[in-house]
Amino acid sequence: MTGSGSAEDAQEEPYLLGTDSDERHRLETQHRLWADWAHDLWDRAGFGPGDRLLDLGCGPGFAALELAERVGAEGRVLAVDESARFIGALAQEAGRRGLAQLTARVERVEALRLDPGSLDGAFARWLFCFLPDPVPVIERAVSGLRSGGRLVVWDYLNYNATALHPRSPAFERVLAAVYESWRRTGGDLNVGERLPGLIAGAGCRLVELVPLARFARPGTALWQWPTGFFFGYVPKLVEAGLLTAAECEAFEAEWREREHDPGAFLSAPPMVGIIAEKR
Ligand SMILES: C[S@@+](CC[C@H](N)C(=O)[O-])C[C@H]1O[C@@H](n2cnc3c(N)ncnc32)[C@H](O)[C@@H]1O
Repeated sequence: MTGSGSAEDAQEEPYLLGTDSDERHRLETQHRLWADWAHDLWDRAGFGPGDRLLDLGCGPGFAALELAERVGAEGRVLAVDESARFIGALAQEAGRRGLAQLTARVERVEALRLDPGSLDGAFARWLFCFLPDPVPVIERAVSGLRSGGRLVVWDYLNYNATALHPRSPAFERVLAAVYESWRRTGGDLNVGERLPGLIAGAGCRLVELVPLARFARPGTALWQWPTGFFFGYVPKLVEAGLLTAAECEAFEAEWREREHDPGAFLSAPPMVGIIAEKR
């Protein structure tokens, strides 16, 4: 295991959601709630012992650590993220677990350096929605795959289909503001609509498209996922001028009200899992 970058990097320019300990904790919870779905996609893609894999935009590496366990000591995992803080934390955790097969590297994915044909597989989850232009990143990842190597991509598909039931006008205003905050930084919360075509256009055969859609009900483990995200992010939308303080309060009140409604549920943002094979 190697790691570059310092956990105390003062130069850190975090992505939209930040790289502080709250965001690290959110990503850990999010990974735990979706881990079975990730394992299922990796099984479908045939990721297994001895494979050489890449995790693009790995964050603090909760998936990368499990990929490293999956490929075992004979395999390799290269985990790449622009955040020195996340990469530092991942390098430390990989060292603690004795996962010498994991290399953690600070790098922007737009400048990704890979030996051509050197990888059996690549994984990118919740990365492309933040990128102004996915195409050069897809091309770089595909160039690193050997022929027959598999690319697994997971991202948001149709953010507008997110809905709280019974309907909540205050939550609908929040959704519109979240969508706009992504758009302002060049990201796209509907990027999953375009990704299959872009991946096919980069020299891959689409093997499978897997729907990643769930309902979250108050009182269940999955309910923590939207609650943690919206209660953390809505105050930032107020700071950014995309919501008023009163709209923030109205959202919090309606959300808490739904938590006491036995019939309430959230249609979580639909996502797509894409499994593709390099020709
Ligand atoms: C929502 S997190 C997802 C982390 C991880 N893939 C997961 O599934 O838990 C998005 C990650 O993408 C990284 N990221 C965003 N834009 C990037 C870029 N241009 N180059 C490298 N990493 C980037 C962020 O630093 C962050 O760690």
